[in-house]
Amino acid sequence: MANEPVSLAAALASFSDQWSPRIVTSVNDYDVRVAKVEGEHVWHVHDHTDEFFLVVEGELHIALREAAGERTVVLAEGSVFTVPRGTEHRPYAPRPTSILMFEPTGTLTVGDRHDEVPDHVDATTGHLLR
Ligand code: NI
Repeated sequence: MANEPVSLAAALASFSDQWSPRIVTSVNDYDVRVAKVEGEHVWHVHDHTDEFFLVVEGELHIALREAAGERTVVLAEGSVFTVPRGTEHRPYAPRPTSILMFEPTGTLTVGDRHDEVPDHVDATTGHLLR
């Protein structure tokens, strides 16, 4: 990890892949990742960890399957939301959007269980910035 400040804008400008997070730094055993997203991700669940989202630019919708039923939260630019562990969720962005995620190192983007992963979704634990 570079021992220098990382510009989120520069990090986001360094790649164009969608739904393919880059690791910008780590905090103890957590990674801070940024991703460019548009369209639908895939229904999935993280059995052992919460997942934190911050919308850097754009708008992120997260569909949730909760005990009371299904609902969608809408995160405007600058909003944060944490998906609780064990909750099935599917992120969706109606337009080009940039997000920041905070989750334990090694957490898969498609969780521990998921629907069939479409080609436009990168099943990864995050890529290093170049
Ligand atoms: Ni997730």
